[in-house]
Amino acid sequence: MRMLSTLALAAGLACAPLIAPTSVSSAYAADIQATGKSDKQALIADLIGRMTLDEKIGQLRLISIGPEMPQPQLIKEIAAGRVGGTFNSITQAENRPLQDAAVMQSRLKIPMFFAYDVVHGHRTVFPISLGLASSWDMGLVEKTARISAVEAAADGIDATFAPMVDISRDPRWGRTSEGFGEDPYLVSQCARASVKGFQGASPANADSLMAFVKHFALYGAVEGGRDYNTVDMSLQRMYQDYLPPYRAGLDAGAGGVMIALNSINGQPATSNRWLLHDLLRKEWGFKGVTVSDHGAIDELLRHGVASNGREAAKLAIEAGVDISMADTRYLEQLPTLVKSGAVPVALIDDAVREVLGAKYDMGLFADPFRRIGVAAQDPADVDAESRLHRAEAREAARKSIVLLENRNQTLPLRKSGKVAVIGPLTDAQIDILGSWSAAGKPRQSVSLLQGMRDALAGKGEVIYARGANVTDDARVVGYLNFLNWDSPEVVQDKRSPGEMIDEAVRTARDADAIVVAVGESRGMSHEASSRTSLSLPGSQEALLKALKTTGKPLVVVLMNGRPLTVNWEKDNADAMLETWYAGTEGGHAIADVLFGDENPSGKLPVSFPRSIGQIPTYYNHLRIGRPFTPGKPANYTSQYFEEESGPLYPFGYGLSYTTFSVSEIRLSSPKLARNGTINASVTVKNTGKYAGETVVQFYVQDVTASVVRPVKELKGFRKVLLAPGESRAIEFPVTEDTLKFYNARLEYVAEPGDFNLQIGLDSASVREARFTLE
Ligand code: BGC
Repeated sequence: MRMLSTLALAAGLACAPLIAPTSVSSAYAADIQATGKSDKQALIADLIGRMTLDEKIGQLRLISIGPEMPQPQLIKEIAAGRVGGTFNSITQAENRPLQDAAVMQSRLKIPMFFAYDVVHGHRTVFPISLGLASSWDMGLVEKTARISAVEAAADGIDATFAPMVDISRDPRWGRTSEGFGEDPYLVSQCARASVKGFQGASPANADSLMAFVKHFALYGAVEGGRDYNTVDMSLQRMYQDYLPPYRAGLDAGAGGVMIALNSINGQPATSNRWLLHDLLRKEWGFKGVTVSDHGAIDELLRHGVASNGREAAKLAIEAGVDISMADTRYLEQLPTLVKSGAVPVALIDDAVREVLGAKYDMGLFADPFRRIGVAAQDPADVDAESRLHRAEAREAARKSIVLLENRNQTLPLRKSGKVAVIGPLTDAQIDILGSWSAAGKPRQSVSLLQGMRDALAGKGEVIYARGANVTDDARVVGYLNFLNWDSPEVVQDKRSPGEMIDEAVRTARDADAIVVAVGESRGMSHEASSRTSLSLPGSQEALLKALKTTGKPLVVVLMNGRPLTVNWEKDNADAMLETWYAGTEGGHAIADVLFGDENPSGKLPVSFPRSIGQIPTYYNHLRIGRPFTPGKPANYTSQYFEEESGPLYPFGYGLSYTTFSVSEIRLSSPKLARNGTINASVTVKNTGKYAGETVVQFYVQDVTASVVRPVKELKGFRKVLLAPGESRAIEFPVTEDTLKFYNARLEYVAEPGDFNLQIGLDSASVREARFTLE
């Protein structure tokens, strides 16, 4: 009965209803209460039986709030039953009149749903997904998604277009920042944790969001890392490496799937019946709803697979695109397509069934206002400052930071004396939030400069100079400012580069140590922000080189959304931290690490290349006939002759203020029986002075198989906290399942023979042991 009282209140306190509120949707609520969840299908079948064709097509329409349509017109469209949901409205007050129009004015009173890109936080912004993955802490990933859901649901949002689980092996792709890295196993774990966090015990709960796993599929493999480009890939590679994370998200119960913008082997995902029907529905048994990406049905014309809107709509509905996002093709074309017999109404009914099913699962038939609440209770604090989860954001950011270098134990710094805090990203409240920062407000974020000042307050002194602009390239600045149309993202310091560097060097000379924040402004690692260079822009390289001449300890703090080719920095920094975009509490968290209040434990979820030409550098590449072997004569081996081979930093890499040792691997048996288990264990010891966490990583190599297999693949990991001198035995069970892969016939099998097990603290330095699968 909560719904009735909510509706009555909403009717009285929000906009005036046209009909008596007690009749609104109460039929649904009563049905649900009388019959329980099992009657979902009956409720939906009954509705579909009563819907006109136009009302059905309306349910397939998802409108982007803002440019697409002014609010009064939108309300009329909803009341006419021509809209199924919206996205981009992010407060209860914005969503309430829309829901009112649906459940009080439309003929069938079918509730709307409200979606948003809640990717790595909502009001509170957590580190970008690449940063969260660097924690290798799935409890943390789940917790950040849970908090994001609680905050977004309290803003009247029902669904999120997340998690983004595209494997990316090409860091030129700007959306690398949005995903969890390059590894199928780690990304799958993150996908699962994230879906569990967003949806909680059920997507119907008032504090849960329905998760839409995206972008299905293979979006991270776009050619040359150029956004929106084509993907041409073997089925083996798809099944083995790129598809598992989507599957993991769906197996964790995600209610929705967002379809990718790219084509796959010549067929756009949006018109790909093999992908959306044969694989997703038949093979994987997905029962939820699919949504196209922004304008993607229309884009079928530009892909060149449809010659007009009619063909585009027909292809999409036949392929299995349920909801059309920010696109008018369904609305314009489906009525005549159905009336002419070109599209059977049964196809429309299938799509409507999924949309209504998703709304049911979001709990909206039981109570359309369950996340919108009543106007009288709308929070007075519109900025949500009192509702931010700052402590959790700080904790997540601390865990996402990766220590790349630490010569002569430069870090941790002492909390005394003078620290020069320099660099274009030092005082960057916008950038530290990262791309897709949802409802996060830059003015609420803690910059590194602020974090350092807070940490040193009363103990030492911070002296500041900006030192450089992120870039001096006016074309790039123009591009970055075009990306965000609300306010300029990048504000240039008008002084000359020379003046800024001189000031920075003077500042640095006066300090005991230099902390310099460099990298990319957040728009450089964003949708549509593909790059041809992964080095720091020239303005920042010049700054670093000038600071180096001072001879003061140089601590480089990287802020970026993808691997960068930081060769000079690796060789010249006394210490270097990868902090990604660390979120609302980023500045505090980075200071915590710099001063040793947190011992860094992050590990890279992506390999760092030495140069653009070396891409791809993913660690789990296939074996070859002429591999390059370090230390052996290099002619006629697979390498680039003018550059050192291997990544600059390998997958899984990350240092600590303490040191760890890993023992030889102990195997419980050298033979694994089918249906049996053997255990591989190592003893990890903290051999240094500080308590610290590390991630023990477990890799497998299939020595001989019927097809070429990777050099190694991650199959498990464990994060352990050890006091100085403490040891712990870490055990990884190995079963037949651990060894399975897709053979040439796409059968998921484990073939008999030898396997190498590798255990270590990154993918490159491992202990090895061999066993045989019988
Ligand atoms: C992006 C999606 C996003 C959608 C809605 C598109 O441009 O590709 O990831 O969910 O916009 O904001």
